[in-house]
Amino acid sequence: ADPDLLQDFCVADFNASISVNGFPCKPADEVNSDDFFFDGLSKEGNTSNMFGWSVTAANVLAFPGLNTLGISMNRVDFAPGGLNPPHSHPRASETGVVIKGKLLVGFVTTSNMFVVPRGLVHFQINVGKGKALLFTAFNSQLPGSAVAATTLFASKPSIPNEVLTKAFQVDDDVIKNIKSKFGS
Ligand code: GLV
Ligand code: MN
Repeated sequence: ADPDLLQDFCVADFNASISVNGFPCKPADEVNSDDFFFDGLSKEGNTSNMFGWSVTAANVLAFPGLNTLGISMNRVDFAPGGLNPPHSHPRASETGVVIKGKLLVGFVTTSNMFVVPRGLVHFQINVGKGKALLFTAFNSQLPGSAVAATTLFASKPSIPNEVLTKAFQVDDDVIKNIKSKFGS
């Protein structure tokens, strides 16, 4: 989904003072091989949290060599019962392969791989007995992630309860309760 590149590479310069679509390129004499390797995906993430899951993102922010290349990956770890909560990626379609365990995947599933079209809400939940491990790949250097629960219930400023009670057809105390779980 990202635009085509106009040069072989453009390693992200996070310190540049100008702001462009993506990140400006580091000067060529500062580019080195470390910019093109990332070892974060080999490490199991910490799943001790309210959802029992962890996402390790190999996007441009973690991996400056990805800048302008239009791809990225995630490692997703699931404790038993762990949930990757409903979310969407505004800038990328996603494909994923289940490496270990058994996941129920909402959107489209075919054996151990699935695909999620850009912008559509999706989730994965570990329905197996043990841990599960998933690798996902994106056609964007920075897919973005809009997590439904946090965008709706933990935005700042917060969405008026009147909107949420009407949208979900529930009482005010239900909305207050959900907002309190997400710290707002
Ligand atoms: C899974 O949905 C992911 O965004 O890595
Ligand atoms: Mn996703």
